[in-house]
Amino acid sequence: MGEKRILCVGLVCLDIISVVDHYPAEDTDTRCLAQRWQRGGNASNTCTVLALLGAPCAFMGSLAPGNAADFVREDFQRYEVDLTHMAMHPACALPISVVISNSTNGTRTILHAASNLPDVTAADFEQVNLSQYKWIHWEGRNASEQVKMIQRVEEHNRTCPAAERVATSVEVEKPRPELYQLFGYGDVVFVSKDVAKDWGFHSAPEAVKGLRRHLKPGATLICAWAEAGAEAMGPDGLLVHSDAFSPDAVVDTLGAGDTFNAAVILALSRGRPLPEALTCGCQVAGRKCGVHGYDGIV
Ligand code: ADP
Ligand code: FRU
Repeated sequence: MGEKRILCVGLVCLDIISVVDHYPAEDTDTRCLAQRWQRGGNASNTCTVLALLGAPCAFMGSLAPGNAADFVREDFQRYEVDLTHMAMHPACALPISVVISNSTNGTRTILHAASNLPDVTAADFEQVNLSQYKWIHWEGRNASEQVKMIQRVEEHNRTCPAAERVATSVEVEKPRPELYQLFGYGDVVFVSKDVAKDWGFHSAPEAVKGLRRHLKPGATLICAWAEAGAEAMGPDGLLVHSDAFSPDAVVDTLGAGDTFNAAVILALSRGRPLPEALTCGCQVAGRKCGVHGYDGIV
């Protein structure tokens, strides 16, 4: 049997990206350098990068009918991301983000239009055959439901042979208190700079040290911090750091965090030690920042 898949649960949306060489002033009428559609959403982007890195992966999320949805479905297929657990919601619309990507300094400004598309529920997740996956990653969204999904995996792990256990990770990216219950779940917890700042921390080492007590015993906390690289702490309590790997020019940071998560998850899922996984995350994310989109990262 080949390598088992990594499943990512979360959002897919359409990103409509305008590339500019300076951020436009309000109430002006200017031209952009380029414009493109790109499949977006954290879990969806993480699948893109996993696929580019050669990892068999699957996306679990909701889809709506329409041109935007056709575009994202075909794009998933182009990257050979498995869509067995993608659910169609005929009465809904796909969420769309308008993104201003400044290719002079790499910043991305996102205006996200959430839609009426429901998140994956614990009942949907009951349909997942856990034995097909070696790792399941949740983008923190409907946290209470996601806790139930993770508990299902924990129960499975208690009753199966060690070799068949499914590793879990969660991403707490948005500074929303409802998501903070997810700190207590997942073998690996990714916390963003925005969330760390919401808790009053000013750096990744501070955040990792301060938030670690909210994790379940034996879990690992990871915090990426843009140009400052990333910090992590595993069960041994040792602080691990990786510098960022800056490309010659930072042209597009959209999805840098999702890229980082993919590379770290892949390395850990293949048994690499935490320092190596963290370095790998920063290397791949750094390459992403040097190219538009994802295709140039490998
Ligand atoms: P997000 O996309 O969620 O805002 P971050 O900004 O924390 O994510 O970045 C994730 C990772 O991407 C960082 O740990 C770093 O390795 C890399 N990265 C992000 N911005 C830069 C940058 N300007 N230069 C080099 N690497 C970067
Ligand atoms: C990047 C991203 C975009 C999307 C937005 C949703 O991390 O997933 O692709 O538009 O965030 O918040």
